[in-house]
Amino acid sequence: MRSEPVVHVSGLVKRYGTKTAVDGLDLTVHPGITAVLGPNGAGKTTLVESCEGYRKPDAGTVSVLGLDPHRQARALHPRIGVMLQSGGVYSGARADEMLRHVAGLHAHPLDVDALIERLGLGSCGRTGYRRLSGGQQQRLALAMAVVGRPELVFLDEPTAGLDPQARHATWDLVRELRGDGVSVILTTHYMDEAEQLADDVAIVDAGHVIAHGTPEELCRGGAENTLRFTGRPGLDVASLLKALPTDAAAAELTPGSYRVTGKVNPQLLATVTSWCAQHGVMPDRIAVERHTLEDVFLELTGRELRG
Ligand SMILES: Nc1ncnc2c1ncn2[C@@H]1O[C@H](COP(=O)(O)OP(=O)(O)O)[C@@H](O)[C@H]1O
Ligand SMILES: [Mg+2]
Repeated sequence: MRSEPVVHVSGLVKRYGTKTAVDGLDLTVHPGITAVLGPNGAGKTTLVESCEGYRKPDAGTVSVLGLDPHRQARALHPRIGVMLQSGGVYSGARADEMLRHVAGLHAHPLDVDALIERLGLGSCGRTGYRRLSGGQQQRLALAMAVVGRPELVFLDEPTAGLDPQARHATWDLVRELRGDGVSVILTTHYMDEAEQLADDVAIVDAGHVIAHGTPEELCRGGAENTLRFTGRPGLDVASLLKALPTDAAAAELTPGSYRVTGKVNPQLLATVTSWCAQHGVMPDRIAVERHTLEDVFLELTGRELRG
């Protein structure tokens, strides 16, 4: 049995003037790491800000840890951690002071020095917030979101623009939070981030959730998979096709490079290799290609995720 949802959004509508940013969005989030994946302008920030209580819905309901983020903000805010996309607006306070201040507001904060070390903020502890680089400001915002050991953390594009090292440090920290029983909802337009980090992915486009599931489910669902192999050029593809299930297709794309599409399962792999054995074909390379979330997005919308 699955545990109680941490977030439940139903029929959420949010407009800015005539622009409808979120358009009747439904989403139920369970404990763990959930990625809200979508292109720029999809409505990700508006969705998380509605959950955080910073945006008042025009229609629909939002429940976070069983509370209304607007009417019960006082009860909710100590239980959640928030990293805003903008990084937030702060004074010229020093980075380490800001983090210690936030830690001091919570009953059981994380060890501040260890967190500074983890996120590579050691060198900028004494630097004023405004003089930090963009990446440092982002890591400090992340530290402030998690230092209070909240039950649920919202991270809006936590790794946008970070170098690979800082990105991996962020991912490690997010996984560690999960290990400590903290739920994380993060937005991203990086499909590899969603695929590698999230237990659950909600793909958002034009203010709607267009697909929701584990990365495995999403990549399996509907999408045809591909098996490729290389061998000598000019193999009898028509004969291979006869051996395959009727819904599969086979083609020699370039001389010696073959592609089989269809429901790629162990049976199909066995069919291809036994056909090769019967025809004295030794493939140099045989590979099963799984669909990525990028492919899933393309299939659902006809557009690239990174437009
Ligand atoms: N304060 C605002 N005023 C007017 N339009 C806005 C405002 N904030 C966001 N929008 C618009 O709403 C849509 C969704 O924005 P946003 O929630 O920021 O998406 P995302 O975070 O996925 O990029 C976009 O078209 C954006 O331009
Ligand atoms: Mg955004």
